[in-house]
Amino acid sequence: HSNPLIAADVVQWQASHGRNHLPWQQTRDPYRVWLSEIMLQQTQVTTVLGYYERFLQQFPDVASLAAAPEDDVMALWSGLGYYSRARNLHRCAKAVVTEHGGAFPRTAAVLATLPGIGRSTAAAIASFCFGERAAILDANVKRVLTRVLAYGEDLSSSRHEKALWVLAEDLLPAQDLHNTMPRYTQGLMDLGATVCLPRNPSCLVCPLQSKCQAAQQGNAVSYPVKTRK
Ligand code: ADE
Ligand code: SF4
Repeated sequence: HSNPLIAADVVQWQASHGRNHLPWQQTRDPYRVWLSEIMLQQTQVTTVLGYYERFLQQFPDVASLAAAPEDDVMALWSGLGYYSRARNLHRCAKAVVTEHGGAFPRTAAVLATLPGIGRSTAAAIASFCFGERAAILDANVKRVLTRVLAYGEDLSSSRHEKALWVLAEDLLPAQDLHNTMPRYTQGLMDLGATVCLPRNPSCLVCPLQSKCQAAQQGNAVSYPVKTRK
């Protein structure tokens, strides 16, 4: 199959048009990056900012979080919603301390064994903090990649979702030359959040337009396909 070679375009676009001043982008501390990724799973950036700072003031490292009473963790999470995230966050901190000697694992594969860390979150942490060549595939990135590839299969089928993971891996930068992995990962997130919008994609200003099969077909909004035809 053909690889549209989008990595360099994503990386170049991210440097000039992406988000580069968010607090969790100013560090490679996996504790801080992990905390931000869990908060951002179901909550907007503007809401996360205040919670993130308050959380880090009370729990500056994984040891302090692991040692905290669950009620204190839940109180700091209050208002963010999806409270199973907070319970898993606390469980994960304890697991890092008891099973990994207090240091976060440095590969996506091992990160994904921890409570609350799914495959895409594990890849985001590993690429941001350790430059691992690992594919992310959250809802925003699924939208970008199904459009670029005109991937018309229903992702509610696990077979078709797995196939998209393989394609996402094929699209990664060939190597993490010059720390491109963090920028590539952030660039896909930023494209999904600011350009390749669900109902109103800005294809005319998108760096991938000339390589995007859905844009060429003029039917971007029909991806991702939700139900079998
Ligand atoms: N959503 C998930 N991860 C993010 C990040 N690193 N920056 C902005 N939004 C995000
Ligand atoms: Fe999305 Fe349009 Fe860019 Fe394709 S060209 S990735 S549909 S914004």
